Amino acid sequence: MSMDKLEKRVIISSLLLMGLFVFSILYAKSRYKSNVPECLPYDKAYTEPKINKLDEKTYQVFSVASMWQFQPSEIYIPVGSEVDFYLTSKDVVHGFNISKKNLNMMAVYGTINKTTVKFTEPGVYDIVCHEYCGAGHQNMHAQVIVNYPTAK
Ligand code: CUA
Repeated sequence: MSMDKLEKRVIISSLLLMGLFVFSILYAKSRYKSNVPECLPYDKAYTEPKINKLDEKTYQVFSVASMWQFQPSEIYIPVGSEVDFYLTSKDVVHGFNISKKNLNMMAVYGTINKTTVKFTEPGVYDIVCHEYCGAGHQNMHAQVIVNYPTAK
């Protein structure tokens, strides 16, 4: 029994297409240095929000989302800083979006998500919750303030 010619073509073209998808992801990852968020085990859990300064240009931000705020709500850093964002939630699922940096993460109770962002331009970067989380959802935001003396 031989395979239908058309069937063979369909199988080959879908394999090629899948290959193209995988290639595109890997290409985008290296070309645009986009950081795919990682999920860390919860045994390194933190409950308190904090900002650690590792050196002049390297920071860790331990962000805690809850109804309806992000803590810390104002993050002051100098331009050129690289920031490791750690993210968790105290209650429901929240979103964590910095549209200017094309960053999109979820804050989930019992898990920690992490990603690294470099801020090469001064300015105020809004962090907004983009996952509906209840009555105060639309007021849930924070700011990364790069080389600005005060929040806007
Ligand atoms: Cu938190 Cu929407």
